[in-house]
Parts: sequence; C-alpha cells; structure tokens
Amino acid sequence: MDDTAEFNQKIDKLELEIFTRLPESLRLISKTHFTPVRIAQLAAEWLTEDGPKKILDVGAGTGKFCIAGAIEYNSFFYGIEHRESLVDIANTMIDSFGLKNAKVLHQNILDVNFKDYDAFYMFNPYYENLVFNKRLNNEVSLSEQLHKQYTEHTLAQLREMPNGTRVVTYDGENKEIPYAYERVRQSQNGLLKLWVKG
Ligand SMILES: C[S@@+](CC[C@H](N)C(=O)[O-])C[C@H]1O[C@@H](n2cnc3c(N)ncnc32)[C@H](O)[C@@H]1O
Repeated sequence: MDDTAEFNQKIDKLELEIFTRLPESLRLISKTHFTPVRIAQLAAEWLTEDGPKKILDVGAGTGKFCIAGAIEYNSFFYGIEHRESLVDIANTMIDSFGLKNAKVLHQNILDVNFKDYDAFYMFNPYYENLVFNKRLNNEVSLSEQLHKQYTEHTLAQLREMPNGTRVVTYDGENKEIPYAYERVRQSQNGLLKLWVKG
C-alpha cells in the first residue's frame, strides 16, 4: 500500500470511529455541523507548524476538531461549547480515545478571554443565529442580536492577541477576523483559511 492509500485509510478509520460514537440523533446532522477529520487535521497542522501550543476551537460541538487534532499533534486542544449536551458527548468521546491533550469546556464565547489560548479554530460557529434551518437543536437561544454580540466579542478579543497569532477558519464569511490578520494560506476551494496577525 502506498503512503497516500495508507493516509486515506487512517483518516477514514478515525472518521468512522468518531461517527459510531455519536448518538443516533447527531449522526444525521454531523456532516453539516462538524468538521471532517481530514480538514480538522490540516487545520491543526497549520496551527501547530511553528510549535506546540494551546489551541481553542470556538464552538466545539462534539469535539471532533479537538479529537482529530489531539490524536495527531503534540499541542493541547481545548474547545468551548454552549450546548451542555454536546460538551458531555465531546468529553466522553475524548476519554474513550484515551486523549490527555484535549478537553471541551461548557462556556459561552462571551465569557472567554482569548489570551488564555495561543491559536484558534472556527467552523462558522455563529451562523445558525441567522438561518433558521441551520439550527443544530433548540437547547440555546439564537437570534440576530446574539450573532452580532458574539461576532463583536470575537473581533475584539482577536484584536488584542499578539502579532503572529494564528487562526484557521472553515467556511463562513469570516466577519469575526479583524483587518490586522492576513490570510496567508487557503485550501479546500477557499473554504479553509489560515490567518496570521501581522
Ligand atoms: C458549526 S458547529 C462546529 C463544531 C466544531 N467546531 C466542529 O468543527 O466540528 C458550531 C458550534 O459552535 C457552537 N456555538 C455557537 N455559538 C456559540 C457560543 N456563543 N458559545 C459557545 N459555543 C457556541 C454551537 O453550539 C455549535 O456546536
């Protein structure tokens, strides 16, 4: 088997291992709401290529990015998530993989100080506030006003980070990224972007 075939097999295996650990109710929507393993690992590679760090997945869902990153890379992968039911699923999965370098915290982004972390991952976390049929479930309040608040908080926090701070975004309009961040790399037809504060 060549290297590419072996790599693809490894990714597919992890994708399936995560999928089978999800409750039935989340399996159907997992493609829409959770990052594919292949993309999560590319994002993690971009975020960690200049050394191990504390990475935050802003809106971690079931912890898929954290798990895929922590399995492959020598950094600590934190997630914050405001839906408690997803936090429980994420941490149960993290434990079942025996990972010591990943954890999902039950928090709203408005209570997060970005200075507690070094680098950030975002898969369009606030979009469901704008589009009714993109809602993950009814566990939290969603509104246009909250979208504005979350976006403004994220912008303000990222602005305060030191030069060299890395952010990877997957999908979305990237309105949470301040002008001081330069887009230095992209992949997946422009859906995945690496931003670095200059
Ligand atoms: C599109 S999903 C991405 C999940 C995960 N990052 C991944 O890539 O698999 C966005 C997640 O962000 C969470 N989220 C949205 N707004 C949030 C907020 N204000 N605070 C914490 N989590 C939030 C949602 O509950 C949802 O689980």
